[in-house]
Amino acid sequence: MTLSGNSPKILVTGGAGFIGSHTVVSLVNAGFEPVIIDDFSNSERSALDGLRAILGRDVTCYPVNCNDAEIMADIFRKEAPIGVIHFAANKAVGESVAKPLKYYRNNLDPLMLLLELMPQFSVQNFVFSSSCTVYGQPAQLPVTEETPRLPAQSPYGNTKAIGEDIIRDAIAAQIPVKALALRYFNPIGAHPSAEIGELPLGVPANLVPFITQTAAGIRPSLTVYGDDYNTPDGTCIRDYIDVGDLADAHVQALKKLIEAPAGASYDVINIGTGRGETVLNVIRTFEEATGVKVNYVIGPRRAGDVEQVYADVTKANRVLEWSARRSLAESLRDAWNWQKKLI
Ligand code: UD1
Repeated sequence: MTLSGNSPKILVTGGAGFIGSHTVVSLVNAGFEPVIIDDFSNSERSALDGLRAILGRDVTCYPVNCNDAEIMADIFRKEAPIGVIHFAANKAVGESVAKPLKYYRNNLDPLMLLLELMPQFSVQNFVFSSSCTVYGQPAQLPVTEETPRLPAQSPYGNTKAIGEDIIRDAIAAQIPVKALALRYFNPIGAHPSAEIGELPLGVPANLVPFITQTAAGIRPSLTVYGDDYNTPDGTCIRDYIDVGDLADAHVQALKKLIEAPAGASYDVINIGTGRGETVLNVIRTFEEATGVKVNYVIGPRRAGDVEQVYADVTKANRVLEWSARRSLAESLRDAWNWQKKLI
């Protein structure tokens, strides 16, 4: 951990969110000075308390919307960052179907603003949160970055594909920005200290928060969405990546961008473990890792679910010199410790 006032500053939009807050920790541990921009529309101020407990000090936070051009220009001027990690986005697939314009506006306008402001303030390094959702159900597994993207199944997924295209096209027009889009697989877990973690709003849509809430007795039972898929136990397969490992991948991405020669560059990199796990195996591993039983029932398939997707992480290993370190059991234990703190 560094307390130096001279550490290079990195703007982290959405820095109070699940992945953002863990990345703030990784940035500090790597000697960077994160500057959070978060309007708390989908995160809690308590994340800042958690960060303070982990880091032993405050992190600068601007509680503003990252789509306000004037405020953002002021922040660039005042903070003089050397890079931007852009997490801030809406991410509820179901809501995006009901409110597509909210998703297109909130997920794309700030991205374009950042790409306009960065050259104005000579900020060259940009890391973008993308998602394996851009692959849909790939014809071949594991998915490499060359696997063709498929048409998005939701406005949310489309904003990630369009976001990647916006960056690609801006870079092709030679704006002086070096950008990496990280395609996350399924982020899970929490900081081992249980000071920060995932804070789903309302009923969780994602598997692991639903498991921990069920184990905690907040939900009577988990519904496993389908056991008639063409997989070893019939349930869907995903690549669950620990949020701390994912956070470290952002720091590696940033370091590689900083080392690269100035100029316009863009690339995409999968961030996963390279291992696919079935839903039932996640439940079993949770029970073994925590000693707590999860009530579940098998239900029908969920509309829009792909049968299986997991990453080929060769490129992340090679380009970022990064690989996932934490086991599924460790991630699930951390998620449980975090849940216990929330009860
Ligand atoms: C979901 C989104 C994806 C987004 C990602 C972000 C959908 C269709 N996809 O991915 O676009 O990028 O979150 O994290 O929403 N499951 C159950 N019971 C539950 C919840 C989930 O069986 O109550 C199963 C699902 O069928 C799936 C697996 O658990 O097989 C993981 O589900 P989830 O955590 O929602 O992630 P994804 O669907 O992979």
